[in-house]
Amino acid sequence: MVAKPLNVAVLGATGAVGTAMLESLVAREFPFSELYPLASERSAGRILHCGARQLVVQDAAQFDFSRVQLALFSAGAELSKRYAPRAVAAGCLVIDNTSCFRYEDDVPLVVPEVNPESISHWRRRHIIANPNCSTIQLVVALKPLHDVAGVGRVNVATYQAVSGAGRNGVEALRQQSEAILAERQPSVENTPFPVPIAFNVLPHIDRFEDNGYTREEMKMVWETRKILADQSIAINPSCVRVPVFYGHSMAVHLETRKPLGAVKARELLRSAPGLRLLDEVRDAGYPTPTQQAAGRDEVWVGRLRDDISHPRGLSMWVVSDNLRKGAALNSVEIAELWLRHASA
Ligand code: A2P
Repeated sequence: MVAKPLNVAVLGATGAVGTAMLESLVAREFPFSELYPLASERSAGRILHCGARQLVVQDAAQFDFSRVQLALFSAGAELSKRYAPRAVAAGCLVIDNTSCFRYEDDVPLVVPEVNPESISHWRRRHIIANPNCSTIQLVVALKPLHDVAGVGRVNVATYQAVSGAGRNGVEALRQQSEAILAERQPSVENTPFPVPIAFNVLPHIDRFEDNGYTREEMKMVWETRKILADQSIAINPSCVRVPVFYGHSMAVHLETRKPLGAVKARELLRSAPGLRLLDEVRDAGYPTPTQQAAGRDEVWVGRLRDDISHPRGLSMWVVSDNLRKGAALNSVEIAELWLRHASA
């Protein structure tokens, strides 16, 4: 039984996702009493404005996790590895937005609209993993179709915003764009990207694996199968970084096991939780990152059509705010679900 209200810590609170976590906790009126923003020693003492509150950033290394019952982590996998065992030993539940624990069998990987039942395993490790941003928006759109017709195969090409690489990604796009517009050479020094991202497109996110896919692509394979609890789904992703600040997009080509068709698929998606359809055959009758997704909570679907190259194929365009549903919002929704579960 978890008593409400609780004290909550956010690790990585000065970062792109951490900032969005604080905002989501306040905006959704999560029942917290004290809220502790944690970051590196460099940021200790900084004041963050969060709703009506002013919060003082604390050095994570000095923080006593027994002061909180819940901690949201988004400071990178290495730091999750270091701090999650400490937080759990202090009696805290950790919701981790890094890849550190996602593939461990005894750690639930949760998208509340898709696999809420898996939250019941939280007691095994007292860690719940938040999936990768691209995986989340993909599974929110696949789930209604999978339940009815079984998704057998997915080809997906992503168009991912620079904020997925954190504050440094946003800064890199801004600085490189300014440089190019001023007819200067863009610099990649101290940026998360190996070649300039401004006015460019990079078919490369995260490190390369032995099979020629990137880690980001393999995350989509492993995580989609785990969340949909179906290891037989064939998934072939290409993850691409594009010069967009906020909002990931993806072109999804899927094959269902049973015939479904775009008309029925549209009907299913129209009433799906967490999802908005903008699917009209006209100019601007489709979602884009800046016009629909950025700063909003939903996963948007458009360009839904029968695939002319396959009898059970469907194509669609899926867009969502990578910092919100792709990260912070999903983590806070997990926290809400956990709270209902743990208080029941
Ligand atoms: P800081 O601002 O003090 O560096 P992003 O993903 O946007 O790059 O943000 C990363 C987040 O992780 C920031 O809040 C950053 O804090 C935090 N962070 C980085 N290194 C450490 C560390 N050694 N200990 C705690 N937090 C860290």
